[in-house]
Amino acid sequence: MKRTAWVLALVFLVFSVCYTAYADGGPSVETGKKLFYGTSLGTNGKSCATCHKTTENIKKDTAKYPGDPALKNVVNGCITENMNGKPLPDDSTEMNSLIMYMRSVK
Ligand code: HEC
Repeated sequence: MKRTAWVLALVFLVFSVCYTAYADGGPSVETGKKLFYGTSLGTNGKSCATCHKTTENIKKDTAKYPGDPALKNVVNGCITENMNGKPLPDDSTEMNSLIMYMRSVK
């Protein structure tokens, strides 16, 4: 009986940890889209979409950088120079979401 309780507690613990990780999100196209059209990445009230207006633009700009490291680099350039924001760490959920969104634009 005691053992069953331990096993149940362990299953519950593993489930909670996984669920928390899942609920925390990880990168997603949806998060990337919100960031792209929102102004939270900068401090001057601009969003990426202020300058990169059409999906056609986004698609073309993204296609110039087939490799993620180079694309992340130009994105951080835009954040710091065009939005007065802080660069995003390359492996952050925000950066990876932005990349996922931009590459998803058809
Ligand atoms: C104030 C205007 C402005 C804002 C805001 C801005 N950008 Fe840019 N972005 C530019 C300009 C200008 C270029 C350079 C285009 C060029 O040289 O052809 C550029 C270049 C780029 C490129 C490379 C395209 C190329 O032609 O080399 C990407 C990708 C990009 N921006 C993504 C973003 C993302 C993502 C954001 C939001 C985090 C953002 N930009 C915010 C103006 C802006």
